[in-house]
Amino acid sequence: GYDVSGLLGKTGHVTLDVGFVNTAACESAITYIDGDAGILRYRGYPIEQLAEKSTFIEVSYLLIYGELPTARQLSEFSGRLRIHTLVHEEMRRFFDGFPRDAHPMAVLSSGVSALSTFYQDSLDPFDDDHVEASTVRLLAKVPTIAAYAYKKSIGMPPMYPDNSLDYVENFLRMTFGMPTTPYEVDPEIARVLDLLFILHADHEQNCSTSTVRMVGSSHANLFASVSAGVNALFGPLHGGANSAVLRMLSGIRADGGDIPAFVRRVKDKADGVRLMGFGHRVYKNYDPRAALVKEAARRVIDRMERPDPLLDLAMQLEEIALADDYFIERRLYPNVDFYTGLIYKAMGFPTPMFTVLFALGRLPGWIAQWREMIADPATKIGRPRQIYTGATSRDYLPVDRR
Ligand code: ACO
Repeated sequence: GYDVSGLLGKTGHVTLDVGFVNTAACESAITYIDGDAGILRYRGYPIEQLAEKSTFIEVSYLLIYGELPTARQLSEFSGRLRIHTLVHEEMRRFFDGFPRDAHPMAVLSSGVSALSTFYQDSLDPFDDDHVEASTVRLLAKVPTIAAYAYKKSIGMPPMYPDNSLDYVENFLRMTFGMPTTPYEVDPEIARVLDLLFILHADHEQNCSTSTVRMVGSSHANLFASVSAGVNALFGPLHGGANSAVLRMLSGIRADGGDIPAFVRRVKDKADGVRLMGFGHRVYKNYDPRAALVKEAARRVIDRMERPDPLLDLAMQLEEIALADDYFIERRLYPNVDFYTGLIYKAMGFPTPMFTVLFALGRLPGWIAQWREMIADPATKIGRPRQIYTGATSRDYLPVDRR
């Protein structure tokens, strides 16, 4: 009974593809994923090689500019990031207004959005100097805002950046350091956090990246577009899975640590419980990031004075699930989130910060994708069609006759 003439798109038909499971919205030269083969490459470089040999700053450069930097380009790039770490002093007053228990993702997205009010000289998406300035400002200032969000949540004063430190060390110091006590960054912890940032740096057209592109397709500036991406990541189905893994592991432990019983519950599907940190929309053989994260989890947790019993529990759970027909038949493997929450916890981050750490890692990917979209002459404003299912035409009734 619907009038479908309005549904005829440019090619004569409209496709309904809920969740964009089969629809590509753009061409991109940034990240390649082969979900069946378990392959992830940034600009052609395998994630395993980047994880072993590169750094987050180098990977950020690679994603954004397309090539690995020369030594000179790298030192020039990290030098520019170092001198832009301070946020405008007035922004502190702005943040002071948030309640103490504000979720750090809400503070982060507001902070990123607010950058466009303080740095109005870098908002033109079609001016190369503006794009460069907003790129560097975002990369440099987001860790400062993120650390501030954490300090605010524990009622402590913010730490100013120390630009003698590198990117990740500076972030760790701003997060865990106190103005009254010298803070020594543990180089092994910094290296593992750098690795986790590399592993999260881009993942082609996921929900938050597609959001950044969608908002940017209206020619909204980079700060506004990335702020939207932070909000998309805020959702538990996207950035919240690593904290869900921790809740699941703690729950199993509280119930006496009976892993087979938990696995049976998952398989029964009676109460909708899923094995969190398992399964992926794209990876159907294994998530290449998961193996790298598992190794890192061992490294970090072994250094702790009192190792987290949840790590052993996670490893046993993984082993049992991988040998179980239910998971084999459905091609369910650990994804990147299965072990990241355990690592962040071991590092001392509270659960609400886990998604913020994901955002810090994903930032260069968002920026690279936004820049690629803006520079592509084929880009059009994002504007999906719909299949209308509402009432057909009807006449207005005055309120006294309804
Ligand atoms: N535990 C138990 N069963 C599962 C799981 C799981 N984690 N994941 C999928 N299944 C089952 C489903 O019940 C379904 O079974 P059925 O065929 O009997 O109906 C089958 O496997 C296919 O599942 P779908 O939901 O169709 O798979 P989809 O590709 O849409 O979902 C997703 C992928 C959302 C990641 C899913 O595997 C999941 O919910 N995993 C747990 C949450 C999680 O770890 N998310 C993080 C993803 S990675 C990231 O965002 C960085």
